[in-house]
Amino acid sequence: MKGKLIVFEGVEGCGKTSQIQLTQEWLKSFKTSVVVTRQPGGTELGLHLRKLLLAGDSNSIANRTELLLYAADRSQHVEQVIKPAIQNGAIVLCDRYTDSTIAYQGWGRGLDMNLIHQLNAIATSGLESDLTLWFDVDVEVGLARKRGGGDRLDRIEQETIAFHHRVQQGYVQLHTSYSQRIVRVDATLSKEAVQQKIQAILTSKLQA
Ligand code: TMP
Repeated sequence: MKGKLIVFEGVEGCGKTSQIQLTQEWLKSFKTSVVVTRQPGGTELGLHLRKLLLAGDSNSIANRTELLLYAADRSQHVEQVIKPAIQNGAIVLCDRYTDSTIAYQGWGRGLDMNLIHQLNAIATSGLESDLTLWFDVDVEVGLARKRGGGDRLDRIEQETIAFHHRVQQGYVQLHTSYSQRIVRVDATLSKEAVQQKIQAILTSKLQA
């Protein structure tokens, strides 16, 4: 495989983060260079932004400010991490990317979609994912997994159930609109079954 950007997306508790680890291990067996990273928080600056974005109560950041902070994180991350890795021929597995902003700030917060598309384009300088895996799970199931994990819920996880349902609607809509780029994965299956699906998708979609 040549350098590629593969993105993992979905609502809270969809299981994407543990699937990234399993996918990394599987890809290593092909002696491919693999970079695992995330948004927000994939750079040193991004780690500061992640803390600001996810700590505190839900009212401490205005919606438009939140949008700009995610865009700032993405801009730095694309320049410093993603583009150089792809140029070096690595497979980049990225936990969230531009579709998160459409789902969370667009559908969840109700911010202007044109503005979001413009900011996504600026922050990525046009770099789109080669493939996005959308981990589809009911909002209630995902949030219950998060609560069961024992960690305190972060600023976004603490949002209302209605907010999380709007985010989920966003992913459904994105999947319909970009059915070539975004592939749905049934995230209610066992960890092993989900990983098998991912391996089948990557094998068929990314042979270059
Ligand atoms: P996660 O790393 O656990 O997925 O947490 C990141 C949180 O940030 C998650 O609640 C989704 C949210 N988020 C946005 O609201 N907009 C974005 O553009 C990104 C990348 C994440």
